Parts: sequence; C-alpha cells; structure tokens
Amino acid sequence: MIDMEKLVSLCKRRGFIFQNSEIYGGINGFWDYGPIGAELKRRIRDSWWKNMVQERENVVGIDTAIIAHPQTWVASGHVASFSDPMVDCKKCKKRYRADDVPESKKHPKGKCPECGGELTEARAFNLMFQTHVGATSDSASLAYLRPETCQSIFTQFKNVYTVSRQKIPFGIAQIGKAFRNEITPRNFIFRSREFEQMEMEFFCREKESEKWFEFWVNERQNWFYGLGISKDRLRLRPHRKDELAHYASSCTDVEFEMPFGWSEMEGIANRGNYDLTQHVKVSGKDLSWFDEAAKERFLPSVIETSVGVDRTLLAVLVDAYHEEQVKDETRVVMRFAPSIAPYQVAVFPLSDKLEEPSHKLERDLRKHFVSDFDDVSSIGKRYRRHDEIGTPFCVTYDFQSEEDHAVTIRDRDTMKQDRVAVDKVTEYLKEKFV
Ligand code: GAP
Repeated sequence: MIDMEKLVSLCKRRGFIFQNSEIYGGINGFWDYGPIGAELKRRIRDSWWKNMVQERENVVGIDTAIIAHPQTWVASGHVASFSDPMVDCKKCKKRYRADDVPESKKHPKGKCPECGGELTEARAFNLMFQTHVGATSDSASLAYLRPETCQSIFTQFKNVYTVSRQKIPFGIAQIGKAFRNEITPRNFIFRSREFEQMEMEFFCREKESEKWFEFWVNERQNWFYGLGISKDRLRLRPHRKDELAHYASSCTDVEFEMPFGWSEMEGIANRGNYDLTQHVKVSGKDLSWFDEAAKERFLPSVIETSVGVDRTLLAVLVDAYHEEQVKDETRVVMRFAPSIAPYQVAVFPLSDKLEEPSHKLERDLRKHFVSDFDDVSSIGKRYRRHDEIGTPFCVTYDFQSEEDHAVTIRDRDTMKQDRVAVDKVTEYLKEKFV
C-alpha cells in the first residue's frame, strides 16, 4: 500500500492538495485543494447529493449557515461536553468538566460519579472554535463555528417539513463545512480542523427505526462501492453497546483501510429522538410531527448518516494509487473510476502548429466532458502528468489528423490506443463513460 509521504508529495506536485498558507510556514490542521483536488472533491459531493437527494423521493436538501444561534450548541450538548478541561468515562461515555470531578486531577484515572467507570485523563481543550458576532467582543456576542452540520437540520425540521410536503418517514440532507479545534490534527486531510461533512437525518417512527437503520447502512455501503473503491478495503464496523453514545441505540461505522490502519469514514446511527427533544427543551418550541391519519403527535426518531468529504477523498486517492513497471520506468497511475476522475479527457496537440484544430476539438469536448488542454512539454511527459491525475482518456491530435481527420485516443489503464474519427470522438467517449 502507498505510504502517506508519497501520496502527500503527489498531491502537491499535481495540484490536488496544498498545505494552507504555505508561504507563511503553514497552519496545522488546514489544507487547500488545488485545481485537480477541487474537481475531485466536487465530483464526490455531486455523487453524494445525486445519490442521497436527487435520486430519492423522500430526501430533501438544505444549505444552512455555518454560524448558528449559540443556544443550538447548548441544546446539542456541545457547549457542555466540549468545554475544557474535560474527562470522559470510558464505560458509560459520560463527559464531565474535570473541575466537577476533583479526583480526576489528583488521580487521572479516577472513577465516574455516575457508574464508577474509569475516567480518561483531563483534556484541557475546547473543540468548538469561538468567534464574536457584531462589534462587541463580550460573552453576549459569543458564537461558534459549527462542529457538525446536522444541528441546523434539527432546528429547521419544522420549516422543512412544512414547505416540502414530505411525510414521515423522510430525510433532510446537507453538505457543508464543519470546524473542530482538534487536539492532534494528523494523517494529512484525515483529521483536520476545517473539513466538510455530508449528513442526512432520516425522520421516522420509533418502531420502524431499526429497519431504517439497516436500510441506510446498506445504502451507504453501496455508495462507497459506487465510487469504485475496492470492496476489500471497505468494511462495516458495528459499535459495541459500551461504545455507543448514551442516546444512540445502534451505530455502525464504514471503515476504509488506510496506510495507517482501518479508519472511520462514516457513522450511521440511530439517535432516537434525542436531538429534537433537546431543541424542544431549550427553545421552548414545538417540533413535533402531527400524523393526520393516525391523529397523533410525536417527536420522530432519527437515523443519521454522517460522512466526511475529505476522508472520502483520501480513501479515493489511496485506493486509486498504483505503481507499475513499464519497461525500465515506474508508471504512477491514479485509477479513479471515470465517473469521479478530476478530468475525464485531455487533448494534446502534437506540435504548436496544430494548436488551432486541437483547441477546436477540445472546445467541442468541453460541452460534454470535463476536459483539459495540455500543450506543455513532450507527449510522454503529458501522459505521465495525466496518469498521475487520473485522466481516463487522452486524445492526441497529430500531423496525420490533418489528413485523415482522426485522432489517437489512449486509455489510461490499458495504455491501448485507438484511432478515432474527429467527429466520432464524443460518441466514442460517451460510450466509455456509461
Ligand atoms: N453528526 C455526527 C458527527 O458529526 P462524527 O463521527 O463526529 O459525527 C462524522 O463525524 C464524520 O465527519 C466522520 O466519520 C468523518 O468522516 C468526518 N470528520 C469528523 N471529524 C473530522 C476531522 N477532524 N477531520 C476530517 N473529517 C472529520
């Protein structure tokens, strides 16, 4: 398997991912996506949105602000649970301020006041980034950058169901940035301080919640397969009862085998009606659902699916990376599934003299495919670049093309070349992308 150093270097060299603020020495836990990485990221987001929202009748999408009313984070438990210094009970998962558990200072492995379980050492960190809204910087203006995107789905639950004409069971999805002041950002983009989540909350009746939980675990696993990720590098890991958050009745992670070990990509959880209950309590507003047919009012249960864009992208990169010996050279090729490759096709003029007709061809292809025009350096180097950014097809316009009105199309994976009439290139490629 690829080592991370090689991957980080390829990502920089080819423009997938750069260290943020590199000219100032970088800032730990923040990364920037370059031209190729931005395309790949967009492809992953689009694939999720299509699969989770556009192709389903019973899921709608929203796009909410990064900063929410601070009470949101009181209700969600983040203000209390992410405040420093804190200790966790390893057994019942309850979180305490270390000051509330004085023993923990003297005895880092103190006992939980609730269940007597062993406590972790105190961690003096607040995972929520704070900011101030407006001109004053006092406690009244304090706000937080969201540490997860899902809370606005809960706070907007009533508005959404009122306008969307959905009936339970149905889901609300969103993609967006989340921020956590991670104590130890590491493993490249795997654990960073600014990242992106794709979350969906599916509202259903409690008695049907386990059925929906199983359904979504299966759906989510299939989405990863659809990205072309090798099946043997993916696994489901159901949480043991003693790992579950106190409000969750089931949770399963989708894990991917990273160079640094099996790692969580996504969590699918049956959260019951915990979040809605909390927001009702703190806001004093009624967020219940009224079932007209059954003439009953209730707070629905929720199945959450929560996946990181950046982690998925890292898994896609790790899985796509291949090295192979071609004669006495090592060819590095990113074997992305054509549906998510940053560029679908690249056009190369063999010589400067052929720029005009090859530009014309590329402009035509651009209407149908995400394409690149590459006229820098030798054809061999251009192939090498596009192998490393995973372009499935490269089209070379040569002197012969002027005569026979045909071009050479090279397949990234087999390196086989086909001669195709210029006016048939779109058709040829469309067939390859189905
Ligand atoms: N709403 C539930 C929630 O946020 P989580 O397990 O804390 O659950 C969900 O996060 C997903 O978000 C993770 O599986 C991971 O893919 C991504 N994620 C969480 N923290 C991250 C970080 N520091 N860097 C990159 N991705 C992260």
